[in-house]
Amino acid sequence: MLSKTRLLFTSTLITGFVLVAAAIIIAWTSGDVTTSTDTILAQQIAQSANECVVCHTNHTPGIVNQYGASAHFANNVSCEDCHEVEAEYPGAVQHPDEDFWVLPYSSTAQCETCHREQVQQFYLSRHALPAYVAYAGSGVLNEEHLEIYRSIPEGGGYMDRSRNSLHAMEGEAVTRFACETCHDVGKPNPDNSIGNCTACHIRHEFSLEQARKPETCNACHIGPDHPQWEIYQQSAHGILYMTDGHNWHWDAEPGTLTTVDMPAPTCSTCHMSGFGLSATTHDVGDRLSWFLAAPISTRRPSHLENIARMQGVCLACHSNNFVDTFYADADALVESVNDWVRASDLIMATLRENDLVTAAPFDEPIDYTHFNLWHHWGRTAKFGAWMQGADYVQWHGAYEILHEMAELAEEANDRLEEAGLEPIEFPEGFPGIDAAREFIAEAENAE
Ligand code: HEC
Ligand code: HEC
Ligand code: HEC
Ligand code: HEC
Ligand code: HEC
Ligand code: HEC
Ligand code: HEC
Ligand code: HEC
Repeated sequence: MLSKTRLLFTSTLITGFVLVAAAIIIAWTSGDVTTSTDTILAQQIAQSANECVVCHTNHTPGIVNQYGASAHFANNVSCEDCHEVEAEYPGAVQHPDEDFWVLPYSSTAQCETCHREQVQQFYLSRHALPAYVAYAGSGVLNEEHLEIYRSIPEGGGYMDRSRNSLHAMEGEAVTRFACETCHDVGKPNPDNSIGNCTACHIRHEFSLEQARKPETCNACHIGPDHPQWEIYQQSAHGILYMTDGHNWHWDAEPGTLTTVDMPAPTCSTCHMSGFGLSATTHDVGDRLSWFLAAPISTRRPSHLENIARMQGVCLACHSNNFVDTFYADADALVESVNDWVRASDLIMATLRENDLVTAAPFDEPIDYTHFNLWHHWGRTAKFGAWMQGADYVQWHGAYEILHEMAELAEEANDRLEEAGLEPIEFPEGFPGIDAAREFIAEAENAE
């Protein structure tokens, strides 16, 4: 047994040397280093003696090919490391026709044995439990998870955490393909670990290039309520990515990325990568100053440190003055949207005080008008400003806010008049921003 292993080891070593020598010659003559590394890996996987690899080459060749191109295979991380567990491990299934147990998926607990730091950062982010709680409510969490959930610095801050009413109304036959697809990035696993690293690291290549490209984020950060992907595509940064990205160094070692590798940022550069003055993080809240997704945005607990970390990225390419001016301008836009949303809340409050809307959510069109105003257009205007998508600030943002507000105001006064009550007197120019602010000030004085 021992000599057999040694023989295998020696022959692997010799084959390795031959392959490396061949690769050097190929690289030297063709100048294409990447292809030759891939070629070496492809040949090594074909010669692997690992029983999982050998048999799965026949049964699931796609998985073996992807694994063969991964940093895991190159660093001797095996199929067993991520899949093989004891029979009593939560979620374990007996392997077909074999006497060992596997996880049919692999959970965060397996990744954690080697990537502790990334897992800890991920747990402290809104991608973990807060993403799940957003639809399921916090009532479904066990004690341990509840404690983790409450300890997330940027976890609280906005919105009630009972089961989401749209989730309840649509029913699980629908939401399994909707909310869950995106929000299960933070769902607890049977073994009590949290979330799904493969939401961004598609198996089995776990490629840095794939994770760093913005298409990875567009699986979820897309659509009328969070169009970060669409916004990015129309920004100067996104244009550079789309026109020049094929020349960038996508495989640079984590923590070593510079403007030489990437002359413009992707989602990952600004929110996650080690770049400029900022260290790599899997806590995507680490660099944010506002709760932008909230109806009325407030500051985050450690927003000054967070700003320093985000600007630590910008400053690799922009001047202090440029970045400070940009931040001041974008902050001012957030305040405008906040005031429009406050004005819309005041209109609804008047109707509620007079029993002219039901207490139930989403049971009459006016609920949708009020919701769309902040949830789609308010958010979109804010995201558009911070990530430079003018069309989203304007035609999918501010303009739509004005439109919904005009409808809301007319509908409210129709209802008041129908009930024989005084209509609301809106300042001239409403829903323009100055008039909206006047409206809020009058309501505050009246209190
Ligand atoms: C003798 C062949 C063979 C060997 C050895 C083998 N597998 Fe499999 N494996 C299969 C087949 C066949 C399937 C079922 C594929 C299917 O359902 O289409 C499978 C399925 C799996 C599944 C999915 C199980 C599920 O219920 O969805 C995992 C995970 C897995 N194998 C991992 C491993 C690991 C890890 C090893 C090495 C410790 C290994 N396999 C060794 C043939 C093998
Ligand atoms: C770095 C960890 C890791 C390694 C190494 C790894 N896997 Fe996986 N594997 C996963 C994860 C994570 C999933 C679940 C993916 C998902 O949820 O989409 C998975 C899923 C699977 C599945 C079920 C997927 C399906 O679509 O049916 C099989 C089968 C499987 N792996 C086999 C293997 C085999 C065989 C190897 C070695 C050649 C291997 N894995 C190596 C992490 C790993
Ligand atoms: C047995 C240890 C081990 C396990 C388990 C493991 N990894 Fe890794 N992982 C490594 C090693 C070693 C590297 C290579 C590190 C390096 O290049 O410095 C790596 C690299 C990576 C990379 C960077 C890839 C690159 O091209 O540099 C990602 C992403 C990654 N792992 C994700 C995962 C995920 C997700 C899981 C769980 C599904 C997981 N790993 C499970 C050991 C492991
Ligand atoms: C396409 C993916 C996707 C789908 C489908 C989706 N969401 Fe989201 N959701 C997101 C993203 C991304 C954010 C983060 C927005 C941000 O921070 O800019 C988010 C934010 C939220 C928030 C605000 C954050 C929080 O924790 O309070 C709630 C609540 C929410 N979603 C609930 C739901 C519910 C309920 C459904 C289904 C009825 C759903 N989402 C469907 C991707 C999705
Ligand atoms: C929101 C998307 C996202 C999720 C979820 C995610 N990652 Fe990553 N991960 C990335 C990006 C982007 C990078 C590349 C960072 C860079 O440019 O250096 C990365 C890099 C890595 C690396 C390479 C080393 C490093 O720190 O850069 C490892 C290892 C890793 N991730 C493991 C994990 C594990 C384990 C999980 C699950 C807890 C996970 N990732 C979840 C996006 C994600
Ligand atoms: C599988 C879906 C999914 C993918 C893929 C994904 N996200 Fe998210 N992301 C979410 C959800 C859901 C939320 C909102 C969680 C909440 O607040 O409830 C979120 C929130 C965020 C936030 C706000 C966090 C906070 O503290 O408010 C940032 C920033 C973010 N994601 C960046 C990224 C980046 C960058 C990528 C790609 C590298 C990415 N996400 C990939 C689903 C995803
Ligand atoms: C040039 C850097 C940059 C790029 C590129 C970028 N973002 Fe952002 N992003 C920001 C800034 C700055 C903010 C607002 C920060 C704050 O609150 O102070 C932000 C806000 C966000 C938020 C809102 C979080 C909340 O509070 O609700 C999400 C989600 C997000 N970005 C995801 C993405 C995704 C996905 C991509 C790629 C499609 C992307 N970003 C590209 C810089 C960037
Ligand atoms: C890796 C380099 C890089 C990083 C990092 C970077 N940018 Fe940029 N940015 C650029 C380039 C290049 C342009 C295109 C300039 C042009 O249009 O001539 C640009 C354009 C812009 C523009 C549009 C300017 C205009 O006149 O249209 C804004 C605003 C901006 N960046 C803000 C930011 C902010 C805020 C950050 C950090 C959150 C940031 N950038 C991070 C490289 C970068």
